[in-house]
Amino acid sequence: MNRIRLGVNIDHVATVRNARGENYPSPLRAALLAKKNGADSVTIHLREDRRHINELDLKQIKSKLKIPLNLEIAATKEMLRIAIKNKPSFICIVPEKRREITTEGGLNLNFNKNFLRKVINKLKKNKSRVSLFIEPNLKDIKLSKKLNVDCIEIHTGKFCRLVNENKIYTNELKKIKSAVHLGNDLGLEVHAGHGLTFKSAKILTKIKGIKEFNIGHFLIGESIFLGLGKTVKKFRRILK
Ligand code: PXP
Repeated sequence: MNRIRLGVNIDHVATVRNARGENYPSPLRAALLAKKNGADSVTIHLREDRRHINELDLKQIKSKLKIPLNLEIAATKEMLRIAIKNKPSFICIVPEKRREITTEGGLNLNFNKNFLRKVINKLKKNKSRVSLFIEPNLKDIKLSKKLNVDCIEIHTGKFCRLVNENKIYTNELKKIKSAVHLGNDLGLEVHAGHGLTFKSAKILTKIKGIKEFNIGHFLIGESIFLGLGKTVKKFRRILK
């Protein structure tokens, strides 16, 4: 049986760097250390406002990293151009609002569907694996299939928040489970991400059919106490 892949999101290494306008801590160093400690891929989100990762990070990481780079982008002309030029192995299309603190929900697939279809086709022709970040709802999974993507990433934010606040999460878990099963039935590779901690990731590993987890904020935060290498290794053990 294939093990679950771990994608380590290093955006917040750049957040700390940018807080002081210095050139450290280095996202590239974090990417290489994540690989060394068992990450299967590294994720970066190039935001329109460049609040964390910038294009130089993207270029450096792409040229030095020997595992797949997963680039998260909004479906815009600018990001399409950058993605085509840099050709990361994986691309995840995410919604983006200028004022949000983080990616608050999944994509609205009905908004600008024709442009989204065009973006997906161009990225696939450029030989990137394309994924859509969506809510765990069945309609969006069927629509994703119609849009001809390789993968979907289920937004786990709501579920993780319930787990963190010790609230009942059974309904949200059921939604994720149905989403994963439908995605698998339709031949889509299913990923999960947003808000994951040791505890919530462990619960979600019980759902068969999630091939990849993308984890950032908690993992980088926990690294302050444990160190990045140990934290990556601990997640790797959870995602058996
Ligand atoms: N997956 C996607 C598509 C995301 O946009 C994000 C946040 O950038 C993550 C995973 C990681 O979320 P977190 O930083 O909360 O672990």
